Amino acid sequence: MEARGETPKVTIFDDAEEVARAAAERFVELAQSATAKRGRFAVALSGGSTPKRTYELLAGDDYKDRVDWPKVHVFFGDERMVPPDDAESNYRMASEAMLSCLSIPPENVHRINGLGDSVANARLYEDELRTFFNNDGWPSFDLVLLGMGDDGHTASLFPGTRALDERDAWVAANWVEKLKAYRVTLTAPAINRAAHIIFLVTGANKATPLSEVLKGEPDTRRLPSQLIKPLDGSLEWLVDKAAAAGL
Ligand code: 6PG
Repeated sequence: MEARGETPKVTIFDDAEEVARAAAERFVELAQSATAKRGRFAVALSGGSTPKRTYELLAGDDYKDRVDWPKVHVFFGDERMVPPDDAESNYRMASEAMLSCLSIPPENVHRINGLGDSVANARLYEDELRTFFNNDGWPSFDLVLLGMGDDGHTASLFPGTRALDERDAWVAANWVEKLKAYRVTLTAPAINRAAHIIFLVTGANKATPLSEVLKGEPDTRRLPSQLIKPLDGSLEWLVDKAAAAGL
């Protein structure tokens, strides 16, 4: 699969708050354009801690009235195998920071089940995506938001794990040995079909992996974030000065 998308655009901001504002701004622009053109906006949210502030901003006075929320469909890039009210749940974070404060119909929130068998949960999620995207070869998200771990992982595509080799599945149950846990994750080929992909990366602990991912030799088993290369879409990295120290 050769990426035909544009060259990644890296924008460096003073601090994490500026990154969060820029991400909220891009979210709003992309949501407005997708809802105007296609009557809906399909976004996959990232988990972890970095996007929380963006979600809070989107639900706050500066942004919330700029999006036609009933036309937004929310998906998740990955999920931990925990109940939806668990402190570790990506759904819970997004729900508390944003979704519960907005007029998104509950049926537009497509969460990954974290209870029970992870392989079955991955299949169910892929079925849900296939129904939504009319089983159309690959999903075509309008936006996928991603974070990056300090080991170079993104979504739940961790270094050395099996899901890195997925070529056909949209969703995988991925055993992560260092966490001694399964995660359910979108696969790289599914993410790479998105119209827009935005990484949010902040903090000094991300400086070395960020420079390796962006400027180092290709080594996707060690640095899975390098697998993210949109086929036809755009890839943006919104990073703060601390994370950009090695660029
Ligand atoms: C998750 C993620 C994951 C995350 C990175 C960065 O569920 O953990 O989706 O890929 O984005 O680990 O996490 P932080 O933002 O907490 O550094």
